[in-house]
Amino acid sequence: MDRIKIAPSILAADFARLGDEVARIADHVDMVHIDVMDGHFVPNLSLGYPVIRSLRATTDLYFDVHLMTTNPDAYIDELVAAGGNLFSAHIEVFPDPRAVARKVAAAGLDFGLALNPQTPYAAVEPYLELCSQVLVMSVEPGFGGQAFMPEVLSKVEAARKQVEVLGLSTDIQIDGGITPVTAPMAYEAGANVLVAGSAIFRQEDPVAAVKALRAAVGDHVG
Ligand code: DX5
Ligand code: ZN
Repeated sequence: MDRIKIAPSILAADFARLGDEVARIADHVDMVHIDVMDGHFVPNLSLGYPVIRSLRATTDLYFDVHLMTTNPDAYIDELVAAGGNLFSAHIEVFPDPRAVARKVAAAGLDFGLALNPQTPYAAVEPYLELCSQVLVMSVEPGFGGQAFMPEVLSKVEAARKQVEVLGLSTDIQIDGGITPVTAPMAYEAGANVLVAGSAIFRQEDPVAAVKALRAAVGDHVG
């Protein structure tokens, strides 16, 4: 497996200082994980395209946009205009994601599928080849700071196995409750992208926190 990628979730950052929060860790991370919530797909609201656009003006980092919304396909053009890179939508809202994957690719964005903790891996299995990333949620989506659910690790293993069997380079991302204690479990199961909000932005030294996540999985680079 490739080197681990760290995706800090800005949901845990200070939104009044968002540009500075991202700039502080920019040289040490691989992308920015941006949680968009609509109060329907999840019982919470977070941020939308104007915030993504403002943040884009401050950084060239890859924007992994996790769309916890019921109709993300209605805003593909807005996401492109705002500077998003990855359209990461939930399989629960697109039981057959082929049409939306085509639209997203035509708009020039990468496409990914996310699975809630209760959703079986079989839901995304037929569509793996459409995805540049599969996101396995390890908490119920909607809030940061929740405890990691180890029962989702079998889905990470299933995704890693399918990626290897098909010879793909699909990223396998895990999101929710990732800390230096839980990161090794996710990594050993086959995740190569670790999302972390609280474990980075709620720490006194976010750069040291990123390094601690890497060190926890045996990656001492960066
Ligand atoms: C939850 C979001 C996560 C969240 C993770 O719905 O998808 O990205 O920010 O937060 P932590 O790392 O604090 O569990
Ligand atoms: Zn997320």
